[in-house]
Amino acid sequence: MHTSDAHPTLASPGLHPAGLPETLAWVGGSEGHLRLLDQTRLPSEVVFLECKTAEDVWNAIRVLSVRGAPAIGVAAAFGLVLGLRPNREQPRAAFLAHLDTVSAYLRGCRPTAVNLAWALGEMRLHAFATPGNGAALWLSLWQFAQHLAAQDAATCRRIGEFGAPLIPDGGGVLTHCNAGALATVAYGTALAALYVAHEQGKRFRVYADETRPLLQGARLTAFELAAAGLDVTVLCDHAAASLMQSGQVQAVIVGADRIAANGDVANKIGTYTVALAAQRHGIPFYVAAPRSTFDLSLATGAGIPIEQRAAEEVTHFAGLSTAPAGVGVYNPAFDVTPAELITALVTERGLIQPPAADVIRTLLGP
Ligand code: MRU
Repeated sequence: MHTSDAHPTLASPGLHPAGLPETLAWVGGSEGHLRLLDQTRLPSEVVFLECKTAEDVWNAIRVLSVRGAPAIGVAAAFGLVLGLRPNREQPRAAFLAHLDTVSAYLRGCRPTAVNLAWALGEMRLHAFATPGNGAALWLSLWQFAQHLAAQDAATCRRIGEFGAPLIPDGGGVLTHCNAGALATVAYGTALAALYVAHEQGKRFRVYADETRPLLQGARLTAFELAAAGLDVTVLCDHAAASLMQSGQVQAVIVGADRIAANGDVANKIGTYTVALAAQRHGIPFYVAAPRSTFDLSLATGAGIPIEQRAAEEVTHFAGLSTAPAGVGVYNPAFDVTPAELITALVTERGLIQPPAADVIRTLLGP
């Protein structure tokens, strides 16, 4: 993997907010590679990672160069393509066995966002349904990964169209973490609703929680909303409740990493706190996510695996120590918001309001 500052060609013109560098793109033909915007360097530097192996993609997902549930799913699909490229000469059975090995490796990279396992599962189903030897399968998988990328962009647009009517004209909308174009192939989920509402002429202020410890809200959400010309204000996470108390928030909208069959939502750590504060102040709390974020095999959010991340993310800031050496650290990357705190789920198939297991199954089940 190496870095470059060349700007990639837009794969989905008209879908990504103007002025925003692409989150990810396949560059070149079948001998090409995956180019990722290195989100760890935003907002100060726009730098791209050139991923040429499955290991490059694994590392990029692990360190959050690419992050956000839908984006890591699509990145992993391309990671699988890269990991299988040296096996193109293999007969069918050997190629498919290797597919399972590379897929398991990539799936283990981050545990909470189910989109990662979902995208790899789609790739596997596609491979098994495709006739031929390694060469034919690999070509078809490469094309299918591009299909998944295009599908993600179109899905996000539809989520935005269903979500836009929920956005008030005037007033404020609070969001947490980054569920925008940078977290998907294009447009985002929660932020898609804001982009479409803005396109429709609504005017509102977006409040972006900074989102400790890795600052996805301050670094990424504020970056992409400002690039798209929306009115965005960053606040410390702890300021959200007092902002609601002051009457400046009319709606909250966030994304999700995994949604259980009953509507419980895992999302970035701190989302649960925001939902509690919204309920206290009578403010609607919306969660926007594609079908690929739902895990209907889990009855409730209690079954969702929560990623624990490195202590240094909490004990250090910009390379400086901010806590005594050796102190204990609690650093879950996600929390679970109970369905009862959620006003509606916004999906590409419509709204689920209020979240309830039977409605979720009817709209999204197999
Ligand atoms: O750790 P991250 O940055 O990958 O966490 C991302 C989030 O929690 C997002 O809100 C979620 O993935 C939704 S992205 C459309």
